[in-house]
Amino acid sequence: MLHRRKTVLLSVLLFVLASAFVEELNDSFMETKAADDIWLIKFYAPWCTLCKQLDPVWHQIGSELKSLGSPVNVGKSDATSNTGLSKEFRVRNYPAILMLKKGVKYNYSGPRTKEGILDFADRVGGPLVRSLSSPQLFQHAMSHHDILFVYVGATSQLKGNYTSAAEELIVHTYFFSAARDVLPKTVSLPSLPAVVVFKDRTFFTYNEERDGDLKLWINRERFPNYSKIDSYTLYAMGESGKLVLLALVEEKYQCEQSLRYKSLVEKVAADHRETYSRNFYFGFMEGSDYVNGLVMCDVIVPSFIVVNLSNDGYFIPTSAVETERHLLDFLDGVLDGSIQCQGGNGGLQRVRRLIYDVKVTLTPIFSQAPLLGCFLVGFPITVIAVLCYLSCKFRPTLVDNDDEGVALLAPSLQRRKKLKHKKSE
Ligand SMILES: *[C@@H]1O[C@H](CO)[C@@H](O)[C@H](O)[C@H]1NC(C)=O
Ligand SMILES: *[C@@H]1O[C@H](CO)[C@@H](O)[C@H](O)[C@H]1NC(C)=O
Repeated sequence: MLHRRKTVLLSVLLFVLASAFVEELNDSFMETKAADDIWLIKFYAPWCTLCKQLDPVWHQIGSELKSLGSPVNVGKSDATSNTGLSKEFRVRNYPAILMLKKGVKYNYSGPRTKEGILDFADRVGGPLVRSLSSPQLFQHAMSHHDILFVYVGATSQLKGNYTSAAEELIVHTYFFSAARDVLPKTVSLPSLPAVVVFKDRTFFTYNEERDGDLKLWINRERFPNYSKIDSYTLYAMGESGKLVLLALVEEKYQCEQSLRYKSLVEKVAADHRETYSRNFYFGFMEGSDYVNGLVMCDVIVPSFIVVNLSNDGYFIPTSAVETERHLLDFLDGVLDGSIQCQGGNGGLQRVRRLIYDVKVTLTPIFSQAPLLGCFLVGFPITVIAVLCYLSCKFRPTLVDNDDEGVALLAPSLQRRKKLKHKKSE
């Protein structure tokens, strides 16, 4: 009896603590919140399992930010019952993670891990451009970030452009500023003001004439030249407009060949950066689920593939790649068009992809519960057949529209989102 009462007390206490860290928000939130409050909000739906899985992480995030004395408030909201609020935040999928700061909303699209989300909260919650006022602070920042964008110099139009790029891209990367004498002497800058990115153990200076728009340049350069790439990163790299050369390797217990492929890519990335970094990112990916979905079959692991995330296209070497020379020939073939791009996001590809996705989803169901499988396949087919019959009957001409018609059925973005969900499960 006593034991039970203790348990009840404990759960009440836990509940009180938890609700102190994470506030449940409803439709009145936008009116009641203070104007300059900063909020990190998770929108969920009661039926969404991914949202439930995120619950403990969310509480940890709430308690951690509170104990760090962070200005960021943590909240959550049931998007299905607080439709006003979810409309205000344009919530389209669950769980949606957003930040609100000075009336501006920032979407989080990285992995749903405590580290990823806390980093996002820290980045967006803090100043847009962080000033590095001493060499020590600069060194500290260097040791904590793989990619470091720094504005060097006094106030200028370039600074204005830098700040407005930060407003949009702060969701992805940190922005810093420093005076010239804060940077090491070895960093030679042709002129001031300048925007510099430190990465890959070296640095690159932005040049408007050569690099074009500053925001696009930052978006292109915000990944390391060579890195381990997961599906979130690969997807995000699509925005950069660069191609990605991947060594696909096993998720665990990488064989000797995998390790060799990885180091081959790393070597090419480092030694031929001048030639290829304009067009390519390099990396390796563990596990082939994401790429299988793109290629629509089980790709061989280990292997090499170049993907074009802007159009879901990909390139496969036409002959065995075992040496650096072979790999360079492969990259040149991709660039000069002698190796054919496969896949893509045309109408036919989308239909194929839809069929592939359905197949991948249904195969395990069929092998475990054939009857359920038959129902899952049979029922929609019947419905589609009936709909087709009706539409043919009432609309005699059916135009074969390559892109628009099918886009409704299988936008590749949705496929990726689904894959991303699968990944985080
Ligand atoms: C700032 O951006 C504008 C266009 O957005 C551009 O015309 C201008 O040259 C840029 N200024 C500098 C100094 O980069
Ligand atoms: C990648 O896709 C984009 C968008 O369709 C296209 O403009 C670009 O030429 C493609 N790159 C290569 C190397 O095929």
